Parts: sequence; C-alpha cells; structure tokens
Amino acid sequence: MIKRPEEIALMAKSGELLAQVFSQLDSLDLIGMSTMQVNDLVDSFIVNQLNARPASKGQYGYAYALNSSRNNVVCHGVPSPTEILQSGDIVNFDITLEANGYIADSSKTYLVGTVSAPAKRLVEGTYDAMWKGIKAVRPGARLGDVGYAIERHARKNGYTVVREYCGHGIGREMHESPEVLHWGKPKTGLMLREGMVFTIEPMINQGQHAVHTEEDGWTVVTSDGKLSAQFEHTVAVTRNGVRVLTLRPGEKAPGHQ
Ligand code: CO
Ligand code: CO
Repeated sequence: MIKRPEEIALMAKSGELLAQVFSQLDSLDLIGMSTMQVNDLVDSFIVNQLNARPASKGQYGYAYALNSSRNNVVCHGVPSPTEILQSGDIVNFDITLEANGYIADSSKTYLVGTVSAPAKRLVEGTYDAMWKGIKAVRPGARLGDVGYAIERHARKNGYTVVREYCGHGIGREMHESPEVLHWGKPKTGLMLREGMVFTIEPMINQGQHAVHTEEDGWTVVTSDGKLSAQFEHTVAVTRNGVRVLTLRPGEKAPGHQ
C-alpha cells in the first residue's frame, strides 16, 4: 500500500499527462457533441499525442477511454453516439491513464452551455467537497477524517453523498486497497502514512443518496432522478500533507487558496 518515491514520481508523470487530457476537454465546445465523439477524441489524444494508454479500455470488459455521466447519472455512464450534449446539461468525464506502468485517475464535471443555478451550485459544491477531503489528508490522519470532511460540506449545502461507490488506492492497478469512503466519522478508519496513493472522488446528489444500476449493467443513476455531480483527483500522502498528482493547470493546491 506504501509507494516508494520513484513510484510516486512515475505516478505524478501519469497524472501530469492526464491533466493535459482535461486541458484538451476544457477547450472543446461540448454543445452538440455526442459523448462518443468526446470519448474518441480523448482516446486518440492519449494514444497518439501522449503515447500513453487509456487504462479503462479492457478493464472489467469495458471498451472505452472514459465514462461519461450526464445529469442524473451518478457514475459509470457509457459514451454513446446518440447521446448528444445540450446546453443546460452537466456531464462528468472520468478518465484513467497509464504510462510507464502506473495509472492516474481523475474526473471533472463540465457545465454545458448555460446551466441552471441549482445545477451550477451542485457542481461547485461537489468540487469544494472534494477539496475538503483532499485537505484532510496528511500522515496520522484517518480515512474517516477524509470522509467526514466531504460529507459535512455536502450536508451543509443540503446535498447527500453516494455511499455505494468510493475512492480507491491506485498504482500499477486501477483499483488497489484501501477503499476511500466519502462519508465517515472523525478519528476512525485506516491511519494515513507517507507514500500512500489513492483517489478522492465524491459523488454528490441534489436529492436523496440512493442510486441504482440500469439494465446495461454499467450506468448508475440517482433513484429519485435528480442531478448528481462528481470530481476526482489522485493524491499521495507526503511527509507533511498531501500532493495532488492529477492537479490541472489553474487549479490551486490545498493551503494556497
Ligand atoms: Co475515475
Ligand atoms: Co477512481
């Protein structure tokens, strides 16, 4: 579970490449694009421009470079040529990238065109909740502190935290131990140590926390049909705190806001 400094350096390289993928996505006008078009662009950018590998392809029998989760879709949405993004949508793109044998994992929820105030507030609140969790990471802290910080922030905004899906250790494998819950009690759970690398990826719902999987076996939706948003970063526990390995240009590290 503990990574050596050389391994973390390689994971940071993967994270840097993944940040470049999101910079590409940021430059797109998503209105009118199908989620499959976005997938194809991301796939070819990772393979041809970055000489890396979309790590989700072939994992658990999945065929695509990203998951696209729109509006009431919580996570694991599958890109489709018939799913056309429209002004007012919110859509999460969750991408994993492998380079030099190490995987980075990150996601971002995009506002497509003009989005309603409540939807925008949910997306911003979810982003802030992720950062609350990241800022709780330091040696000696517990995973329960991380989950508590996220859930507390979500609740304060009147939102709920999805309980069925969590963050995860990551390295040579996409999913390693530990499981990182986005809810919990302070001073409980695994104690964090320098060299641990894992994701923090809260899924925050506008309504109730309950979710279910659709008939395709992948797509997870809110049971009440309300919106859900998500952000994800891969982080490493450092000697003094935390390093965000997938930090994107323009994003601020904890303690510098
Ligand atoms: Co992910
Ligand atoms: Co993840």
